[in-house]
Amino acid sequence: MSESRLDPDRMPRHVGIILDGNGRWAQQRGLQRTAGHAAGEQALFDAIQAALDLGIPWLTVYTFSTENWSRSDDEVAFLMHFNQDLLLRRRDDLHADGVRIYFMGDLDDPRIPELNKARMKEAEELTVDNDRLHLVFAFNYGSRLELAEAARRIAGDALSGNLALDTIDSETVSSYLYVAGMPDADLIIRTSGEHRLSNFLLWQAAYAEFVFPEVLFPDFTPGHLVECIAEYQRRKRRFGRA
Ligand code: IPE
Ligand code: IPE
Ligand code: MG
Repeated sequence: MSESRLDPDRMPRHVGIILDGNGRWAQQRGLQRTAGHAAGEQALFDAIQAALDLGIPWLTVYTFSTENWSRSDDEVAFLMHFNQDLLLRRRDDLHADGVRIYFMGDLDDPRIPELNKARMKEAEELTVDNDRLHLVFAFNYGSRLELAEAARRIAGDALSGNLALDTIDSETVSSYLYVAGMPDADLIIRTSGEHRLSNFLLWQAAYAEFVFPEVLFPDFTPGHLVECIAEYQRRKRRFGRA
């Protein structure tokens, strides 16, 4: 990883990764799609390690969308089991590295196996005092659902008199999203050459820079992450200014 060419003063505070292309990676090799998800695990943990090494404080990875339930029963079952098994195998190392683990999404969904729910809670509780890297798994996540749920809770608090209507602004909305204190996304990376958000961080990415490497996720390396950050650092962010 040749991180020396990165400007340490212009590192993104929050990177989001849409890990895409696992299925195609497997299909290209004549394997089942699920073999691609298994192959993506190493790439994911290498990216997490690289984020730690680079000192990126927030990393959000999209591992299961609210739309992914429409895949085959086999693939959904694999992804559910995989997400839970991976946590069990990796959480102690992440904890030792000072990583705080979060899950963002509709975690009460009855389709999520109870064992996964327990594992997610354990991992969050185990790492709650860490703050070197905030690692967020967007799991059963969809931005529209996140915003709809925020709207529902805002309306509830307004109706019960705990929130004055005329104080509601964009900061209020941010504070009702799944992960309190999550900064806006600076850089969104989507692998596999697809150029879309697929319901990821719609609110948080309002002023994010987007980088779309062609590489399929199982082949994504720390070098690719550095390359994406280098591209981010070449961009001129204007935030509406002239
Ligand atoms: C991304 O890879 C991983 C998840 C959605 C969990 P895909 O499974 O979407 O791979 P492609 O896009 O079909 O190649
Ligand atoms: C987005 O990828 C969801 C995750 C990476 C978890 P998809 O592969 O599901 O998105 P579409 O269907 O190509 O938009
Ligand atoms: Mg895909």
